[in-house]
Amino acid sequence: MKENFCAVYLSGTGNTKFCIEKFVKLLDEKAPVFAIEDETALSALKNYEYVVLGYPVQYSNAPKMVRDFIIRNAALWKGKKVFCLATMGAFSGDGAGCSARLLKKCGATVLGGLHLKMPDSVCDSKLLKKSREEKIEIIRRAEEKIERAILQIRSGKYPQNGLGFLPHLVGLLGQRLWFYGKTKNYSDKLKIDNARCVGCGVCVRVCPMQNLMLENQVAASHGKCTLCYRCISECPQQAITLVGKEVVEQYRLENFIS
Ligand SMILES: Cc1cc2nc3c(=O)[nH]c(=O)nc-3n(C[C@H](O)[C@H](O)[C@H](O)COP(=O)(O)O)c2cc1C
Ligand code: SF4
Ligand code: SF4
Repeated sequence: MKENFCAVYLSGTGNTKFCIEKFVKLLDEKAPVFAIEDETALSALKNYEYVVLGYPVQYSNAPKMVRDFIIRNAALWKGKKVFCLATMGAFSGDGAGCSARLLKKCGATVLGGLHLKMPDSVCDSKLLKKSREEKIEIIRRAEEKIERAILQIRSGKYPQNGLGFLPHLVGLLGQRLWFYGKTKNYSDKLKIDNARCVGCGVCVRVCPMQNLMLENQVAASHGKCTLCYRCISECPQQAITLVGKEVVEQYRLENFIS
């Protein structure tokens, strides 16, 4: 590999951060990696022709924050060569394709796409819950898939997960069409239980959208949630929910890697 990459990602509960860091380390160990909410991400992006863009799939779509990041900086993507890495709990069809199509519209060349199955981050729903051993095994398989992808890239061929017409159709009909309303805009559906909230400010500090604020010593949401589940998984009082009515099992990747 001669290309100099940089990487930008959104990660709510750590899966995408972990995967993109591993991927990039093997691809180009000097490549800087930035969280999308990091102010320096944009200026760094300007200096690199090759970019890895990573995010978690949400209802077979790219998160609104990621889509907006691409569109808001449309001019910046012109001429860039981008590899799209999407993590997911089970299925997306065209998770990587969702950003790839936007990037192409902005004039970027899409090198490839990689889909990585990781433990599910939706911690206020009983659906898709796995044992600790199963989660560790899922992560191990994702790491192996990353290593295989890198070997493939070194032999001159980028993986094409989630790109092309068929995955597009599968993602659209399999899920996105029916749930499109969930990711169309930022969400105002985040619920904070005032009786539980102790005003510690953890959620305010971690939100990549700066959607949360302390008001009268309790957290309040301002309708700009990108569904990342970071505050929900980190609130020490389990006071925040989104899809479900109560937190079933907070998920953070760091608890499953050594
Ligand atoms: C709101 C929401 C919607 C999701 N939708 C999907 C989905 O459509 N398909 C899927 O396989 N996983 C889905 N997931 C699971 C995440 O994509 C998966 O756990 C991802 O690896 C989380 O990455 P992160 O830890 O970097 O945030 C969803 C998660 C959230 C929070
Ligand atoms: S993290 Fe939880 S307890 Fe702390 S301010 Fe936010 S909602 Fe309240
Ligand atoms: S409010 Fe919570 S779930 Fe929504 S974007 Fe912020 S940290 Fe993520």
